[in-house]
Amino acid sequence: MEKFDTVIIGAGAAGMFCAAMAGQAGSRVLLIDNGKKPGRKILMSGGGRCNFTNLYIEPAAYLSQNPHFCKSALARYTQWDFIDMVGKHGIAWHEKTLGQLFCDDSAQQIVDMLVAECEKGQVTTRLRSEVLSIERDENGYTIQLNGDSVQAAKLVIATGGLSMPGLGATPFGYKIAEQFGLKVLPTRAGLVPFTLHKPLLEQLQVLSGVSVPSVITAQNGVSFRESLLFTHRGLSGPAVLQLSSYWQPGEFVSVNLLPDTDLDELLNEQRNAHPNQSLKNTLAIVLPKRLVECLQQLGQIPDVTLKQLNSRQQSELLETLQDWRVQPNGTEGYRTAEVTLGGVDTNELSSRTMEARNVPGLYFIGEVMDVSGWLGGYNFQWAWSSAWACAQDL
Ligand code: FDA
Repeated sequence: MEKFDTVIIGAGAAGMFCAAMAGQAGSRVLLIDNGKKPGRKILMSGGGRCNFTNLYIEPAAYLSQNPHFCKSALARYTQWDFIDMVGKHGIAWHEKTLGQLFCDDSAQQIVDMLVAECEKGQVTTRLRSEVLSIERDENGYTIQLNGDSVQAAKLVIATGGLSMPGLGATPFGYKIAEQFGLKVLPTRAGLVPFTLHKPLLEQLQVLSGVSVPSVITAQNGVSFRESLLFTHRGLSGPAVLQLSSYWQPGEFVSVNLLPDTDLDELLNEQRNAHPNQSLKNTLAIVLPKRLVECLQQLGQIPDVTLKQLNSRQQSELLETLQDWRVQPNGTEGYRTAEVTLGGVDTNELSSRTMEARNVPGLYFIGEVMDVSGWLGGYNFQWAWSSAWACAQDL
């Protein structure tokens, strides 16, 4: 049976980075994946340009039942460390918006960088490999693969979450956690579009493709100021994806479609200057015409001129446009979600090394655990930081 110091299951962002760092520190590493190529999600990410980190990484941008857990790893391997590595590999990048860093060229460059770093660490990689079983005894871990078995003193689970099953996502990591007695918190899709109930969806169908700046607020008060996109299934865009991680089924969300406009002031000014101007044309100054027309057809915007608009109608209009209450029907689920919320309970793990407190030599890194970041490079940074922290202990 072939022996390694460390076996890492999952050649995604966290697994590859951990393998490279541990290998370079002298550990004999085997990296296993069920797919035919490594880093499949990286290749798909950021529209093919990989939003690999964010300039403003902070623990508050992560959801977890234990909000303190991510602090140590994020502080010890920071966005600046990863940016430094990207720079050393000659990968050009740019900030798109809100500190989000993307490759100028292609996400393939990040995968190539990780492969090169693994080669530098003499990591053995086995793709298209299924793990049939894992046993632990005094020698460490015996991992039965399709074909043969391997042994290692340390085992790292980096199999990610459930989002995008088409890209190889499996519940494998949760099953291993349970096999070794670790608690797994309920999982659900995060960073995912909302679906709408049929009547509202049908009414808004004509808006598919319209994007507006917005502030969306969840019932717990969390809010995001980014754009909202109407789609043929419901609501999407960065603001909606962000908020979906804080939304619970059955709850309402409040949408401000005019976050940068003092609507009262606009209406009063326009009324003084152009009293016979239609309300519809006035609103089209600050909102997409299609949206205004749709809301008018739905009876949300009265068909009147500015001088006809009475104060009750004006305050109702303010409510409609700045506190539009929507009750999503649900989300698009794991099929399109960027992350999985929940997962291996961080109380079971050391925040310094990611090792299971009660199972020596067993580690969990990346998305498989109950740490999920905002949209915008936060999830990859968690993959890098947790992988790095773990590698220091291998
Ligand atoms: P990851 O999912 O990357 O890797 C897990 C690996 O384990 C996969 O290679 C899988 O094949 C393998 N595996 C699973 N089960 C296995 C089994 N039973 N046996 C063997 N191998 C197994 N984040 C961000 O910060 N910026 C971005 O731009 C994006 N963009 C983005 C786009 C899309 C479409 C998605 C779905 C997600 C993103 N994300 C993102 C989120 C980000 O991709 C995600 O958080 C990280 O990839 C998580 O890294 P992990 O290594 O933990 O899992």
